[in-house]
Amino acid sequence: MEENALAFIPSKASALQKNSEFHAVVYESYKSKKTTRVPEIVPEEISPKKDRLFDIKRAKQEVIKFGTSGFDSQKKEEAKINLLIKLGAKPPKNKNQNYKLLLTEKKKKKEAELKLETFQQLGKNKFGKSNAKGKSFDRKRRKGKGDLLDIYGKVKHRPDNKVESSTMSTQKVAIVTGSNKGIGYAIVKGLCEKYKGLVYLTSRDEGRGKAAIEKLKKLGFNPLFHQLDILDQTSVDTFRDYIKETHGGIDILVNNAAIAFNVDAKETIGVQAEETIKVNYFGTLRVCQSLFPLLRNNARVVNISSSAGKLARIPSADLRAKLSRKDLTIPQLNELVEKFVRAAKEGKMQQDGWGSSTYVVSKVALTALTFIQQRQFDEEKPDRHVAVNAVHPGYVDTDMTNHKGPLTIEEGARAALFLALEAELRGQFVWEDCTVVDWYN
Ligand SMILES: NC(=O)c1ccc[n+]([C@@H]2O[C@H](COP(=O)([O-])OP(=O)(O)OC[C@H]3O[C@@H](n4cnc5c(N)ncnc54)[C@H](OP(=O)(O)O)[C@@H]3O)[C@@H](O)[C@H]2O)c1
Repeated sequence: MEENALAFIPSKASALQKNSEFHAVVYESYKSKKTTRVPEIVPEEISPKKDRLFDIKRAKQEVIKFGTSGFDSQKKEEAKINLLIKLGAKPPKNKNQNYKLLLTEKKKKKEAELKLETFQQLGKNKFGKSNAKGKSFDRKRRKGKGDLLDIYGKVKHRPDNKVESSTMSTQKVAIVTGSNKGIGYAIVKGLCEKYKGLVYLTSRDEGRGKAAIEKLKKLGFNPLFHQLDILDQTSVDTFRDYIKETHGGIDILVNNAAIAFNVDAKETIGVQAEETIKVNYFGTLRVCQSLFPLLRNNARVVNISSSAGKLARIPSADLRAKLSRKDLTIPQLNELVEKFVRAAKEGKMQQDGWGSSTYVVSKVALTALTFIQQRQFDEEKPDRHVAVNAVHPGYVDTDMTNHKGPLTIEEGARAALFLALEAELRGQFVWEDCTVVDWYN
């Protein structure tokens, strides 16, 4: 049956005129071979009906045999595919390799078109490179035109924050939690200035988040926004799904969101302990567990800890030993912090050796988590080169400190930006001046 569906008969060139387009294509190819053998096709054999049963494999063989030997290998492949497309060949019932090849070519073509379209929207040339001839040229020409790149390759003036799916693999992505104000906001700003990639400002409150975006836009930056409440599993999962679908992965994750009760807070110490641990420790852990599978090779995770997160801030030597065990696991750490919350609720915080600050315990636990996370990446996925570090940003002028900190938010963002963009550090505790410090003492 297959043999009869399409027949090639060596024949005279004149036979071409009465034959199909297929034959013409084969003949064109054949000419480059400069041989006297002319392939011929019997017209009725490729009637519309039979076309459906067209033996693609056979056609391909014939093209190889007669038609495309004068082409280089790439051209040859193209010629084969063009021939099949020109013929409008339909797959035989049992799809064979050639049909797959045909589909792949069509898909590739479509993808290339989409990519070109995206590059055009982003102000790039067909090779995906910026059209800029120089910094000033770039800035001037693109200003106000919408949806373009700035001189660092970041998207500027984008009318909305939707990103074409075909840019998925090409653009780097940075995410900062709790970044509508304070140090997180300054980290987003710093990333917008220095990072060659997309920067996500996230906030639990959409209004506050969008207001922060507007503020940054007025400064000439263009961060993207997504709602993210680190206490809310649905919010975290929705964000994860969005990032996965839109970008496919994450390159920088800054876990900044946190709370701290004022010294004169009215809540009981038990409530304070529960709330603080819930946000600063379990909230951050939730984000990590959800987003870590999206981390790309060489990704950097920065956990914003504090000087309060030093192990020495825990009075009990026994607890310090447990928190700093080299083989400590996340479930064991969870158990320890849950024990702390129970102690706080029972009014036994000090007695049990945790000290008097719920914030301290939350940040010590976060720093301990950082070391476990680095160890897990190193043991389980060493080839991915993911770096996880903790940082004390300094004493900063923010709402959290009732604006008593001497450092500006930009100064407070410095060490986090260093870890996110420059440092070759893994599993370290880094101080505001970007030096590595001893967590234990
Ligand atoms: N300021 C300092 O001197 C200092 C010192 C050492 C460490 N740190 C650490 O630095 C980080 C930033 O502190 P900051 O001083 O900039 O504090 P901040 O001004 O109070 O900002 C905290 C940010 O976290 C957000 N947040 C709180 N709970 C959240 C939740 N459930 N989900 C998502 N976001 C949430 C807040 O959002 P809302 O606006 O909605 O409340 C806010 O955007 C924190 O991790 C803090 O512990 C600060």
